[in-house]
Amino acid sequence: MKGIVLAGGTATRLFPLTLVTNKHLLPIYDRPMIYYPIETLAGMGIREVMVIVGGKSVGDVVELLADGSHFGLDLTYRYQRGALGIAHAIGLARDFVGDDAFCCVLGDNILRGPALAPLAREFEAGPWGAGSMLYRVPDPERFGVAELDAQGNVLGFEEKPKVPKSNLIPIGVYFLRPDAFGVIEQLVPSGRGEFEITDVLNHYIPDGGLFAREFQGEWADAGTVPSLLRAAELAAADDAAGRLTPPIIRPVG
Ligand code: DAU
Repeated sequence: MKGIVLAGGTATRLFPLTLVTNKHLLPIYDRPMIYYPIETLAGMGIREVMVIVGGKSVGDVVELLADGSHFGLDLTYRYQRGALGIAHAIGLARDFVGDDAFCCVLGDNILRGPALAPLAREFEAGPWGAGSMLYRVPDPERFGVAELDAQGNVLGFEEKPKVPKSNLIPIGVYFLRPDAFGVIEQLVPSGRGEFEITDVLNHYIPDGGLFAREFQGEWADAGTVPSLLRAAELAAADDAAGRLTPPIIRPVG
C-alpha cells in the first residue's frame, strides 16, 4: 500500500498564524503538525509516501521532511496549484499510486490511539472500493457528516451540512484504490468550489463498496484555533501517559 499526505490549501481559518507560513509547519506540542500524519502512515507499515504541497513556505515543508529516510519512509512531492479540494489534491498522485491501493491522510489530522495497520490490511485484502474512518464529534456541521440507517450503515456523506444528520464524521484518513482516479475525473466542484472527498466516498456506497469503521482512539483536525489547541492537548496527554515517542530530527546538512 502507498501513502499520501495532503499539505496544500490556504488555511484561512488559522489567519494570522498562517498568513506567512504553511499550516502544516505549526507546532502541535513538541513537533510540527505534519509529523502526525506522516507518523500515522509509517505506523501502518507504509513506506512510499507522496506529500502534496501547496500554499505558503512549500520549500520549508520539503526541507523539514527531506527524503523521509529519518522516518523510515521514501518521500516524494507534488505541487498543487490553488486549493481546489481534497479530491483534486489526491488526483495529483495518480502516477505515483500506479496499480496499488493507497491511504491518504490529511496533513492537519492528529490521531492518537490504536495503530491503523490492521484496518489498512483488511481494506487492502477486501472487496471495497473506498474506506473511511468515522468519529463522533460535538460540532459535526464543521465536517463531512454521515447519514446512517437504523442498523448504523452509512447511507451517504454530506459536506458541512447546516443541519447534520448525525454526529459521526469521516475523519481525514481515506483508503482508496486506483479506481478512485476515474471517479475524481468525473466530479464537479461543490457549492464552495472544491472537489470534495465526500463525493468520492459517496460514489462507492450504493453497491456496498464502502468500508467504514469507527476510529477507536482520539482525533483532532487542527484546522481552527480551538482544534489546534485540542490537538496539542491530545499529544500532551499521550506524553504524560508515556505514549509519545520523542520527535524525530532529520540529520542536519
Ligand atoms: O478533518 C476531516 C474533514 O476534512 C472531513 O470531515 C471533511 O469531509 C473534509 O472535507 C475535510 O474538511 P476540511 O474543511 O476541514 O478540510 P480542509 O480544507 O481544512 O483541508 C484538510 C487538509 O487537506 C489540510 O491540511 C490541507 C489539505 N488540502 C486541502 C485542500 C482544500 C490540500 O492539500 N489541498 C486542498 O485543495
